[in-house]
Amino acid sequence: MSPTAHGPSPFHRSRLRSEIPGLLLLLILSSAGCQDPDAPAAEAPTPLAYAIPEQPEMATGYVEKPGWEFPDFAVAAANPLATDAGFQILEAGGTAVDAAVAVQMVLTLVEPQSSGIGGGAFLLHWDGDELAAYDGREVAPTGAGEDLFLDEDGDPLPFSQAVSSGLSVGVPGTIAMLRTAHERHGHLAWADLFRPAITLASEGFALSPRLHGLLAGDASLRNDPIARALYYDEDGNPHPVGYSLRNPALAAVLERVAQEGADVFYHGPIAQDMVSRVRNHPERPGTLALEDLAAYPEQDFRREAICTPWRTYRLCGFPPPSSGHLAIMQILGILERLELPPNPLVAGVPSAQWLHGYLEASKLAFADRNQYVADPDFVDPPGEAWESLLAPEYLEERARLVGARSMGTAQAGDPGAVAAALGVQGTQPDGGTSHISIVDRDGNAVSMTTTIESGFGSRIMSDGGTGLAGGFHLNNELTDFSLSPRDEEGRLIANRVEPGKRPRSSMSPTLVFDGESGDFLASVGSPGGAAIIHYTAKALLGMLAWELNAQEAIDLPNFTNFNGPSVLESGGFPQEVLDALRSLGHEVREGDLTSGLQAIQRLEEGLFGGADPRREGVVMGG
Ligand code: GLY
Repeated sequence: MSPTAHGPSPFHRSRLRSEIPGLLLLLILSSAGCQDPDAPAAEAPTPLAYAIPEQPEMATGYVEKPGWEFPDFAVAAANPLATDAGFQILEAGGTAVDAAVAVQMVLTLVEPQSSGIGGGAFLLHWDGDELAAYDGREVAPTGAGEDLFLDEDGDPLPFSQAVSSGLSVGVPGTIAMLRTAHERHGHLAWADLFRPAITLASEGFALSPRLHGLLAGDASLRNDPIARALYYDEDGNPHPVGYSLRNPALAAVLERVAQEGADVFYHGPIAQDMVSRVRNHPERPGTLALEDLAAYPEQDFRREAICTPWRTYRLCGFPPPSSGHLAIMQILGILERLELPPNPLVAGVPSAQWLHGYLEASKLAFADRNQYVADPDFVDPPGEAWESLLAPEYLEERARLVGARSMGTAQAGDPGAVAAALGVQGTQPDGGTSHISIVDRDGNAVSMTTTIESGFGSRIMSDGGTGLAGGFHLNNELTDFSLSPRDEEGRLIANRVEPGKRPRSSMSPTLVFDGESGDFLASVGSPGGAAIIHYTAKALLGMLAWELNAQEAIDLPNFTNFNGPSVLESGGFPQEVLDALRSLGHEVREGDLTSGLQAIQRLEEGLFGGADPRREGVVMGG
């Protein structure tokens, strides 16, 4: 892995810059950091002396990020204020998990479209000895059954209606999961970790161009009374970029969780308000109940991470209910079995020959994902273990299906006996989400991907019963289930809604280790719905196979296939590549593919971090 920072091909950069339309440019502009540096810092009742950073980020469009090198510790997150909160925690002697808690609380405030306390998350932790996986995925309320998203005729609701509703809200998991991770791996006091977010929510933070653009473009968020009063003026226009946005209700909720502990979120007024907002949705109320919330923190959040050997590495990721690691490793495993050039980059982008192999491998992986993967508490894996999908002989068999021309669409394979014939879940849109990578001074590493599902989740906010202005967004994670419980042939779909079940995820927080020594090498992940799988695979290939550093790997143009048409990042590939793929029978489209990768890699001396130029993230460290 080369530590030198040089970007993708000049072709890729210039095309992206010149062809980004105005609105998209607005969406991906980065936070201008317009804090008033003279504003007094809030009195901190705890020992952590948090200081609001001045100008934490350069004003940006598609920002070419330099990549950042640090000797001892580093934190990478999707917003400069969130990264800075993690940095201050690490500087104060906090652990990687301490920093993750602080980053998540600030993201709830400053990147409310992507993740927050009203959502769920997966966290991988490495302490130099032991790998731990914490599952904070939302669960379906006990009142939600397989007909949750069906109308009176038994047809699935239009997807946008399913999203903007009380129906889509799962029991939030992030706070309870982080409490468990903090109990095991934290060092600073729980309350200290909330100080940055409480201070920023009370004092105000500068509304970023990306948040502004998303607020402007959202069709239904204005219908929520809390969101309308918080983010928009009297005419329904979002507050301008740089507006100092205060969120007193969120500050009060976080203060209670900080002082009284995670359980306060799941009982009493905060829980009552979430339930009331969901059950009183004016058009499509949900069934979330106080009992659902009260039960959530009582579970064991620990899962067994899946670690898979690949070349000289050991790649560790999240097991089901995430489909991420399985799909990534199927793609990488099939690619290994194809005759492809070891380094396919031509003028900084993968060649058409290599892309053909990748896109075909992706179809095969997504066919399996859409048939088999769901919450393991409800669905048995094929062949009695999820690893059956990664067995060498099975991947050989799947790789043999890749021919010289596009296969069109792939069918699921037969990795082992299944308990029941399963239907195939169709493609549903999904997005949102945020990724955090952290390495602390002691070498503890975190890879955490966190989500409220769509941008702004269910478009329902809760003020936590405070009666104050503002609040937090409730997730729409249940639309990660199949809206329809059966496929066209009437077979039950593994990832259908069932009470207490976790929806299938694509989140792919990943930790990479040296296969021989076991040393930690990298932490990586991305938002992007099902495209998370491709974004993360691309970054892994760049860093581990193509000798790029984390920033160079993240910068590479994105390429996706979900077992249908291939979508390549607009402006990222020369016309010859698109033409060559079409001549092989691929249906090729171009799209924005706004990944939000963050990665930190260990070098021989120190750490090197990268953040996605397509979003607002930065890396800080010391
Ligand atoms: N909601 C995004 C995911 O879990 O994949």
